[in-house]
Amino acid sequence: MSAVLVPTKGLPLGRPMVDAAFLQDPYPTYRALREDAPIHWSDEFFGGAWLLTRHEDVAAVLRDPSYSARRTGGWVMRGREGEREELCPFQRLFSRALLFLDAPDHTRLRQVLNAGFRPQTLSSYAVHIKKCVIDLIEPLDNLSEFDFIEKVAKSLPARVIAKILGMDCDERSEFIEWSDDLAAFIGAPQPTHELTRRAQISLLKMSACFEQLLATRRRGEAGNDLIGQLLQAERAGKIGTGEELLAQCAMLLFAGQETTRNLLGNGLYALLSHPAQWRCLQEEPALLPNALRELLRYDSPVQYTGRRVATDRVLHGRQLERGQLVIALIGAANRDPMRYSDPDQLDITRQQGSHLSFGHGPHVCIGAALTLMEAEITFRALLERSPRLTLAEAAPVWSGNPVYRGLRTLPVRNPAKKPTGTVATLAHVEV
Ligand code: HEM
Repeated sequence: MSAVLVPTKGLPLGRPMVDAAFLQDPYPTYRALREDAPIHWSDEFFGGAWLLTRHEDVAAVLRDPSYSARRTGGWVMRGREGEREELCPFQRLFSRALLFLDAPDHTRLRQVLNAGFRPQTLSSYAVHIKKCVIDLIEPLDNLSEFDFIEKVAKSLPARVIAKILGMDCDERSEFIEWSDDLAAFIGAPQPTHELTRRAQISLLKMSACFEQLLATRRRGEAGNDLIGQLLQAERAGKIGTGEELLAQCAMLLFAGQETTRNLLGNGLYALLSHPAQWRCLQEEPALLPNALRELLRYDSPVQYTGRRVATDRVLHGRQLERGQLVIALIGAANRDPMRYSDPDQLDITRQQGSHLSFGHGPHVCIGAALTLMEAEITFRALLERSPRLTLAEAAPVWSGNPVYRGLRTLPVRNPAKKPTGTVATLAHVEV
């Protein structure tokens, strides 16, 4: 190997990376890291990890199967011996989810799940999404001020995914709590035993819920919805009965929840804190698909993901050893000036696509089209019904999760109330 190895040094920040200021606004920290060096070692993530901030490097790692997605062992099971035993059920389920598998298991399961996200299947969900959006947004016509997270962003993804998975809508509020517990665990750079236990309890509750649902559905025709597709695959031996199947169901319930909530919340916040952009979108609603791409780039709902080094290698002069963790900072890559002109500027007319917010390579988000459909229908409804929305607070509170970046609350003012419409108001929305 001809590369000159650069000795490992810490972060150039003079303070811990994940502190209160970072959780409010991580972008100055990403910039400081990127400008200092393309790769850093940090002890703050799971006892030590490499951090990547450049668009090119983040995309390359996510694309390269020699960086393994199997990483739950040293994550769930990093506590003391007695604690680890207690967490075995969590590890067994969590490690079987698509997100944490490599080929060939990943390829096999991805093919099974792809069937539930084909364009034709997705367009059959559009009517339900429109109805959910109207149910949530119509009552807001009568309010001069409301919290967008509480009233819309939190409930919509749970309603949509519950319907897609054929769950009873009554269980919705529990889905949100369970997802929140998993998100708190995934987002913690050093998860405590208590946090991990809570995540285990919630994951097992999700799994029990699906066990019941699947048992009922197995007694009848499989059907063509997402659960039906999974049952057909189970009968064909393409997905394992038991934990393999349950792990995918629970992952789907969780994966679209926190992320979509934060796309809606971060997106509306970005638009309302840049009133000229909000006005531009009102004048030209056809810009919405492009605007969503830019909103995803500008403030990504998923700020980073991880991989394990599968074979020793040298990257930017640093020796990466097998088993070490690499943190691909998606939020930093999306603001890389080598990839985007004026990257800290929100510009809904920007024509520099390929943000990394849905990941890249074999694990690229399977739910991207679904979440974009939810966001497009929601923002169209807001533009139509509440065009004069403004922020009610200059600095809303962020949730403090470094992976799932999102607002705890988003109070908005709704000065011009439009007459109440009906579901038909959105009949023209194309998806
Ligand atoms: C704004 C919304 C969303 C964002 C930002 C997002 C982001 C991501 C990212 C970054 C990955 C790749 C993770 C990695 O490579 O380690 C991913 C994978 C995934 N996402 Fe999403 N996601 C969103 C919505 C959804 C929805 C609505 C669903 C499903 C209902 C979903 C299901 C999944 C699944 C199953 C994977 C794993 C794919 C695989 O491993 O092959 N996501 N998502």
